[in-house]
Amino acid sequence: MATYPSISHLSIKLFMKKLLIRGGKKLNGTIEITGAKNAALPLMVASILTDEKLTLTNVPHVSDISTMANLLVSLGIGIEMDGMDKDHGNQGRVLIFNASNISNPIAPYELVRKMRASIFILGPLLARMGKAKVSLPGGCAIGTRPVDLHLKAMEKLGAKIEIEGGYVNASVEGRLKGAEINFEKVSVGATENTMMAATLAEGETILHNAACEPEIIDLANCLRAMGAKISGDGTPRVVIQGVEKLHAARHKIVADRIEAGTYAIAAGITDGCIRLKGVEMWVLTGVKEELEKAGLSLTQVEPDVIEVKRISKLIQPVSISTHPYPGFATDMQAQFMSLMAVADGASTIEETIFENRFMHVMELVRMGANIESHGSLAVVKGVAKLTGAEVMATDLRASVSLVLAALVADGETIINRLYHLERGYERLADKLIACGADISILY
Ligand code: UD1
Repeated sequence: MATYPSISHLSIKLFMKKLLIRGGKKLNGTIEITGAKNAALPLMVASILTDEKLTLTNVPHVSDISTMANLLVSLGIGIEMDGMDKDHGNQGRVLIFNASNISNPIAPYELVRKMRASIFILGPLLARMGKAKVSLPGGCAIGTRPVDLHLKAMEKLGAKIEIEGGYVNASVEGRLKGAEINFEKVSVGATENTMMAATLAEGETILHNAACEPEIIDLANCLRAMGAKISGDGTPRVVIQGVEKLHAARHKIVADRIEAGTYAIAAGITDGCIRLKGVEMWVLTGVKEELEKAGLSLTQVEPDVIEVKRISKLIQPVSISTHPYPGFATDMQAQFMSLMAVADGASTIEETIFENRFMHVMELVRMGANIESHGSLAVVKGVAKLTGAEVMATDLRASVSLVLAALVADGETIINRLYHLERGYERLADKLIACGADISILY
């Protein structure tokens, strides 16, 4: 076992600089789907809620995990890594958190600006320590992304919130108090933050208009294993009975539905067949239905294996609109647009969650796609062929949409700024190469 960060964490030392993809190969094979980054981040933060050890397994090897680990270490939390298995590259799959001594309840700007999920520490720190100081994250590539819902919910739970010098200063006298909270907008992060805080509050908290994503259910499962009393997770009404103390637990992180959906599109766009290992169908609700309309088949061939292949000769155009779960995930919008870029006809793609999430459009157009975007709507007219080009990754999901387009483009595509991809996709190039993709990693 090793103490974080004494080992250069996970596989991040393999940072890629650029990808060179030669398109035209059908992808066939099996891809292991990792634990969900978006589940792992709040789960890591949940360790703050107890002075006993929290063990998470199935931790993905992506750079956002390292960023969160660095933040937790800076608070005084001990992290040990286990799951050593050099042959299978499993070092660090298991992380053990020890928050028996939180010395510094502050999240500085340098860390928060790198990753907005840092705001998750606000609720747990308030609940456990009675105070927290967290930098405001500021805007990001896909939109303004305010944190007002997180702050209002903490106020409802009895916290005093002041904004000073770009920081949120939050404090509470004694314990947080259970409350009825009506979110004016569905927010995954605000639901998670509030759910964590409420586990240690005095009395009952009821969340209305809560997010229903699989990552919320996963967090609730882990919190329950730690002794929390939560019901209704996965529905818009979540009820939390506060308890005085949480305890040690071991939890396996749910599969990454966005990674699974991305590789499902890789199978469909290249007319190949990929088995996604480690994932159950229910997590793909909302996306599966639209992939099927586009001409893909998704079959649960084993309890944790989904086989994806294309069954229509040509990709069918499908219009989608992004919505909170169980709607079509905004984190799959860019990838779906790449699929539609080579469909047999026109479709529309509407982005309703984030206001600036079409950064991939102009890059796809540089590869020969016929896409026009107007505000939150993109009109995609499928073309018979895309052509390779040098393109720029702009955010995590936009980057991977360029990879998918490159897999079917004629000629060579070079994708720059791969650090975006590495925030959320573990060994993406290796996994695609193992299925027959022609990809070189340029360092
Ligand atoms: C999470 C995911 C992200 C995904 C998003 C939507 C993590 C770590 N990230 O982000 O990958 O794209 O859900 O599925 O899980 N909003 C406010 N005020 C707030 C909070 C959010 O107005 O206080 C708005 C946002 O700007 C956005 C919408 O609510 O328009 C939904 O955002 P939210 O669900 O909170 O996204 P995140 O939790 O940040």
